[in-house]
Amino acid sequence: MVDEKSDRPTALVTGANRGLGLETARQLQADGYRVVLTSRTESKGIAAARSLDADGKQVSYHQLDVTDQGSIAALAQDLPNLIPRLDVLVNNAGIGSWGGDRRLAAQTIATNYFGPRDVTDALLPFIPRGGRIVMVSSGLGELSYLEENLRARFDSPTLTRPALDSLVASYLAALDQGAQKRDGWPSSYSVSKVSLNALTRILGRDLSSKGITVNSVCPGWVRTDMGGRGASRSVPVGGRSIFLTVKLPADATGGFYRDGKRIPW
Ligand SMILES: NC(=O)c1ccc[n+]([C@@H]2O[C@H](COP(=O)([O-])OP(=O)(O)OC[C@H]3O[C@@H](n4cnc5c(N)ncnc54)[C@H](OP(=O)(O)O)[C@@H]3O)[C@@H](O)[C@H]2O)c1
Repeated sequence: MVDEKSDRPTALVTGANRGLGLETARQLQADGYRVVLTSRTESKGIAAARSLDADGKQVSYHQLDVTDQGSIAALAQDLPNLIPRLDVLVNNAGIGSWGGDRRLAAQTIATNYFGPRDVTDALLPFIPRGGRIVMVSSGLGELSYLEENLRARFDSPTLTRPALDSLVASYLAALDQGAQKRDGWPSSYSVSKVSLNALTRILGRDLSSKGITVNSVCPGWVRTDMGGRGASRSVPVGGRSIFLTVKLPADATGGFYRDGKRIPW
């Protein structure tokens, strides 16, 4: 049940049953946030939430598969029963795909780009003035991974959401035809994160009149299931990079950060 009198800030983290999502939830909880931990598999998410907070007073749980419209709608419907408002949304859920498997490449775009886009749209009505949206991106989403023509289109200061969606659609069409390399596209993972970063810039601009900030973060190369054992950073260090983006000054919006410092798009 919602404690209406609680003035504790609230946060929701996607893909938080393991890895950087769980760590971000842990760091937000330690900082005094009431956290809604979400995961696509309920049993794993409930176990993760209990590992942070056995009695569920500071950390509550809701199922969320970011690629499933029904799951997103159910979360939006239930959210008012969990928290009075949403101060911080961390779009963390993601998958990695670097090879040529077309099905996996399309799934990567669905999870890493359409997922955070649709979750943000659905939860926006709960985010008040002063709210913060953090997109967990990657250095592999830097514009430098694109060839010149594509880079200019993604980097355009006048890029709109429909234009961004049609750029992503042109990648998916190239993928269907097996023409993505010929057309100059990098890995699906890079395309997903470049697109997510472009969305961050657009939303940062569009939501500034509502007093809501939107920033992207690179956690660095982290020893999670995705990053592998050979990665250079521990999970707490990677999670801290995400946490510091949540805690940026109130006027910082539309930027890309690592460890609380701006990095190039
Ligand atoms: N690790 C790195 O070096 C690194 C570097 C740069 C950026 N990142 C980014 O950091 C974020 C977290 O990655 P990680 O390293 O913590 O990876 P991870 O250990 O593989 O965890 C990924 C999380 O995303 C969840 N997820 C995947 N698809 C989902 C979906 N459709 N709906 C909801 N949740 C879903 C997974 O849930 P399941 O357990 O159900 O699969 C898991 O909880 C990702 O966005 C990733 O791209 C990671």
